[in-house]
Amino acid sequence: MLNDTQVIRLNAEQRYAHELNKLQEADNNQNKPQGWNLSPKSVRQFILGNEELGISRKFYGDDPLVDRAIVSLLGKQGLMLVGEPGTAKSMLSELLAAAISGDSNLTIQGTAGTSEDHICYSWNYALLLAEGPTEKALIGSPLYQGMKLGKIVRFEEITRCPPEIQDVLVSLMSEKQMMIPEMGQNAKISAKPGFNLIGTANLRDRGVHEMSAALKRRFNFETVKPIADKHFEIELIQMQLDQELGDLKSQVTIPIDVIELLVTTFQELRQGQTDEGTKLKTPDSVMSTAEAVNIVYASALDAHYLGNGILNGGQIAKQLIGVVLKDNSDDIKRIQFYMDNVVRERAKKSSSWRDFYQASKVFWQ
Ligand SMILES: Nc1ncnc2c1ncn2[C@@H]1O[C@H](COP(=O)(O)OP(=O)(O)O)[C@@H](O)[C@H]1O
Ligand SMILES: [Mg+2]
Repeated sequence: MLNDTQVIRLNAEQRYAHELNKLQEADNNQNKPQGWNLSPKSVRQFILGNEELGISRKFYGDDPLVDRAIVSLLGKQGLMLVGEPGTAKSMLSELLAAAISGDSNLTIQGTAGTSEDHICYSWNYALLLAEGPTEKALIGSPLYQGMKLGKIVRFEEITRCPPEIQDVLVSLMSEKQMMIPEMGQNAKISAKPGFNLIGTANLRDRGVHEMSAALKRRFNFETVKPIADKHFEIELIQMQLDQELGDLKSQVTIPIDVIELLVTTFQELRQGQTDEGTKLKTPDSVMSTAEAVNIVYASALDAHYLGNGILNGGQIAKQLIGVVLKDNSDDIKRIQFYMDNVVRERAKKSSSWRDFYQASKVFWQ
């Protein structure tokens, strides 16, 4: 058996159990909506942080969005988080489910192969044959469980599911009950208070299906954008890097100006414009905070294991190529333009930018 410390990733309610306990104590059972583990204010603090209580900030960049998301979940509508990949939609839905229901595991992963069984229920056929369609023979989906227990259910990548499967959700979301005709004409489970659905959908996914108008009406939509504030993004990357590096943290030096260089590059390319106003072509590749964290992490490993233990702009350039080339070969031209027109100028004044520029010449030919 694995114990908790041996798995690669714990879920949010395990990772932050201590914080959730503190918030629950602070709530003192006041102002909790029916079926919720925490008051809406505490849910907000869990996600946006509260220094006094020692609660860390987990989502950066758009506090009002978090408020609106919580309000959505208090009502009858579901919550749909849409946006570019890597903008923390999945993370936010996990944190909301952990805070509201104490359980972020009731998750359906949308794929082209998602069927009605995955959304509703299926049967244990041995038991079904032995004793007929009883509750014991029924295998409830995460959505079934969420309705029954009054918990938040997460539906990831909803637009990857075929339209007829998305439509199954329409009646579930409006009736807030699931019929089980095999168990009798009127057999059903009705959702308990605390149940709601958080969907996520990536705008950039290829081959996705449009969401039907009927389904759209059952959800409040929130668009999650990449972090626009440079300092927020730097802070977030440093924090996540610390977590990922773990014990290695003390053995590798990560100069802040190298992180700033990467964040500046990402933000300028995303926005299609430099801080000085030079126009750029935006790459098709996803350049999200999550990618930035991956790049710094890989560069830090490079610096530690293959370099002199000090992260430099050259290692960043080396890793960037994997992110940029992954999707689209036109992108490399766009970045090369950036290197030759923007980075080259900055290289005259800063050693990090110089390392970055020189390495791009070596690695990108
Ligand atoms: N605004 C943000 N606040 C906090 N973390 C963020 C933010 N944007 C991106 N991240 C980081 O990026 C990671 C990837 O996000 P994820 O939830 O998988 O994205 P998505 O589901 O939108 O594709 C998150 O786990 C988080 O570490
Ligand atoms: Mg996701």
